Formats: sequence, structure tokens, C-alpha cells
Amino acid sequence: MAKQILLTGGAGYIGSNTALELLNAGYEVVIVDNFCNSDEKLDERLAGIPVYKADVTKYGELAEVFGKYDFHAVIHFAALKAVGVSVREPLEYYANNVGGLLTTLRLMQAHGVNRIVYSSSATVYDPAGPLPYTETSPVGNANSPYGQTKVICEQIIRDYTASNPGFTAHLLRYFNPIKGAVKEKPRGVPNNLYPYIQQVHEGLREKLTVNGNDYPTRDGTCVRDYIDCTKIAQSHIAPLEAETPGLYIKNIGTGNGTTVLELIRQYEQENNCVIPYEIGPRRAGDIPECYCAG
Ligand code: NAD
Ligand code: UD1
Repeated sequence: MAKQILLTGGAGYIGSNTALELLNAGYEVVIVDNFCNSDEKLDERLAGIPVYKADVTKYGELAEVFGKYDFHAVIHFAALKAVGVSVREPLEYYANNVGGLLTTLRLMQAHGVNRIVYSSSATVYDPAGPLPYTETSPVGNANSPYGQTKVICEQIIRDYTASNPGFTAHLLRYFNPIKGAVKEKPRGVPNNLYPYIQQVHEGLREKLTVNGNDYPTRDGTCVRDYIDCTKIAQSHIAPLEAETPGLYIKNIGTGNGTTVLELIRQYEQENNCVIPYEIGPRRAGDIPECYCAG
């Protein structure tokens, strides 16, 4: 029988791409999502997957789903991720992201589910730390409540894993996802660079504003480690099969730093188009460079 995998937040961008990869790899996928940042209508390639509308912070709602299956593992994507909003509404972010993880772990414990793959982020690395980031680089001093929820959730998983010798936890620290078989469909004005470029290309927005060109980088714009979301999706498969229980931490990036202007040019070449842009002021909270060792 195929192994049953629960994807919390599985209707979202990275979750949908991962669901597709898991189906191709022969897993049985179950999705729980409250659709606060996704459509109830999933990509057509995901048709047939059981999808439950439930809030992972609500024990009773999630318990109903746990009661129906014998999960081999949980991949916990469900979280709010708008950095700017998290600064204005920290309580909502802590309640949703930390509360949602706690409820999920409590149900995993109650049902003897001993494997979690957690969606962490490059944002956990201390921005003052040396580049490139490796898994042993200093963590903490996140520059937003969103980032801080990732630091706290990692610590909760670390503590729970230490208390439970049969438990396996994989913390996947994603860098900047782009592309993917299932496209990101952000609600409202995109905060992130790639979906903004896509919307300019599609004519939904007039032009891109580049947030500052006076950083100490090769062309003055910020450097990030952009990774194809299909590769991120595939990175969830090996953690479902690793044998020795314990805590595993992995950076999910390419090891290549790309500036904002370079990404625009790359997009123009790949799509044979022109992306109009202007240079604007720096965005609060941005660090000049963020990339992993690959
Ligand atoms: P997304 O917003 O597209 O997907 C998250 C999904 O979780 C959404 O479908 C949303 O409706 C759902 N959700 C949120 N709170 C929920 C709750 N309480 N109950 C049930 N469902 C809930 O985001 P994404 O880009 O696919 O990100 C997935 C995960 O990866 C998140 O944990 C995010 O923090 C993390 N991450 C994302 C990035 C990135 O750049 N996209 C980078 C690093 C880490
Ligand atoms: C941001 C978050 C990070 C989160 C990630 C995924 C911040 C400081 N960091 O990463 O915590 O994990 O999103 O949600 O918000 N840019 C423009 N114009 C735009 C949009 C972006 O120039 O319209 C620039 C940004 O200033 C940045 C680069 O593009 O220099 C990448 O931005 P973005 O895609 O938002 O990713 P991060 O800031 O790396």
C-alpha cells in the first residue's frame, strides 16, 4: 500500500508543487488547508487528492483528518509568510505559525506519527553571519516576526525530537523559490520579486520597481539564491525515507547568488520579452546578500 503523507498548507505554492512530485513518486497525498492564501480549486493535475478545509491551529478540525488516515509523515507547509504584514500583526503570525505547528505535533504524538518535514527558511540565519550560509551558520536575530516564527518552530521541533527517540524531523531551509510546475498565484500585489516580474510580463502591472541599487554588490542590487520550485518540491522525497531517527537540517538553495537586475535579464531572455522597471528606494529589512554554500 502506498504511504500516506499529510501536507498541511498543501494547496499553496510550494505545497502544490510538492504534491505533484509525491504523486509521481507513488505516495498517497492528503491535503489540509484553510485557503487563507490559496484557491480551493487546486491545479487540475492534483485532481483526486483528498483535500480538507481545516485550520491547523484548531485541534478538533485537524483531529478529524488524523482520524481518517494512517499517516507515514507530515510535511508542514501551513504558515503565513508576508514579512511586512508580520511586522504590523505579530500576534497573528505567532498564533498561526507557532500555534499551527504545536497543534500538528500534538496530533502526530496522539496518533503515533513519527516523521515531520518542516518548511523552514533562509531567514533563520543571523543576517550578521558570514556568507555563504551553511547549516551550521549562526541562527537567530531574524529581522521580522515572520522570520522569528521560523526560528521558534525549529526550536520546538528540535526539543520534541530530543524528547522522542523514535522521531525523525527534517528542517528544510528554503532559499528563494521561483518557477515550478504549478505557478505561484499570490493574492493582491506580490511582495516577492519573481511573481511581480511574471505579473509585469502578463500585463497585470505596468512596471517593476527595483528596491535600491546602492547595495555593496556587483551591480548595486540585492543578491539572492533563486531555486526552481520543482527542485524544492523534490527535496521533500528523501526525508520521507531516511532511516535513522533524529534531527536533520538542510539548506535548499543552489549556492549561486543572483542580483535583482540579473534575474530580470534572465527572465527576459528565457521568455523573449522586455520587463520595464525603475529604480526605487531600498525596502526596509532587506539584507544585501543571501545565498547558501550549495
Ligand atoms: P503559500 O502561502 O502559497 O502556502 C501556504 C499555505 O498554507 C496556503 O495555502 C495557506 O492557505 C495555508 N495556511 C496558512 N495558515 C494555515 C492554517 N492555519 N491552517 C491551514 N492552512 C493554512 O506559501 P508557500 O510559498 O507555498 O510557503 C510554504 C511554506 O514554506 C511556508 O511555511 C513558508 O513560510 C515556507 N517558506 C516559503 C518561502 C517562499 O519564498 N515561498 C521561503 C522560505 C520558506
Ligand atoms: C522574502 C523575505 C523572506 C521570505 C521570502 C519568501 C524579506 C526581507 N524577506 O525574501 O523572509 O522567506 O521573501 O516569502 O521580506 N524586490 C524588488 N522589487 C520587488 C520585489 C522584490 O526589487 O517588487 C527585491 C527585494 O528588495 C530583494 C529581492 O528582490 O532584494 C528578492 O525579494 P523577495 O522575492 O521578496 O525575497 P526576499 O526578500 O529574499
